[in-house]
Amino acid sequence: MIEIAIIGGTGVYDPRILANVREAEIATPYGEVKYKVGDYAGKAVAFIPRHGSSHSIPPHLINYRANIWAMKKIGVKAIVATTAVGSLNIEMKPGDFVLVDQFLDFTKSRHHTFYEGGERGVVHVDVTEPYCPTLRAVLLAAGEETGIRIHPKGTYVCTEGPRFETPAEIRAYAKLGGDLVGMTNVPEVVLAREAEMCYATVSMVTNFAAGISPLPLTHGEVLDTMRDNAEKIKKLIMAAIGKINPGADCTCLHALAEYGGFKL
Ligand code: HPA
Repeated sequence: MIEIAIIGGTGVYDPRILANVREAEIATPYGEVKYKVGDYAGKAVAFIPRHGSSHSIPPHLINYRANIWAMKKIGVKAIVATTAVGSLNIEMKPGDFVLVDQFLDFTKSRHHTFYEGGERGVVHVDVTEPYCPTLRAVLLAAGEETGIRIHPKGTYVCTEGPRFETPAEIRAYAKLGGDLVGMTNVPEVVLAREAEMCYATVSMVTNFAAGISPLPLTHGEVLDTMRDNAEKIKKLIMAAIGKINPGADCTCLHALAEYGGFKL
């Protein structure tokens, strides 16, 4: 039984931390999903590199629905994701980790739901607390155990990309209460909630956002910061995985109770 998954963002393409890694694929109504499975601390853990294993899928073309559906279909209950982000908040510096607790959605062209009307019907899922409180507590505890400092809260602004933002956009997002900016967490987090899975994201600050940083942004800068901190993020995630109890109940697992539950 594979009950835990990692979705690796920019810079986290390889499940090297897992033992006995094997490749697998599964069909979904949205297309086939290739993933890896390995073992850690006596648990089978699935791994999906969100952008593909060589960063070939841009944020707006990621098949978010297929990825989440695939994880649900193999039995996953808890997903720990990583995301690379720019920072709008001077307290959140390159190299810092943030356990985001809210998002602002500025995406434009993505499929945001498994419920497009017709036979599956219409669902209005609650995202008052979009990130799983149980997994967030586990990640905070993993931070304490490993001595890795994590900002316990932050508002993630999701942009459409693939371009970086203008300084005017960043100023506007900061006024709206955003702390971090990235291109991938929406709709991933929402689809996980619709699929009644626990989901949390560790965001790694790779740069100060456009206009806050005095220099033009480069993808190389994002990758360099990720690379410098790759060991830390892996250590944090693996410590968290050791602490996840997939048998435990959580409100996320009943998110669609009002609609009779999520059905594959
Ligand atoms: N903007 C959007 N996405 C990002 C950034 C950024 O500055 N850094 C890493 N991902």
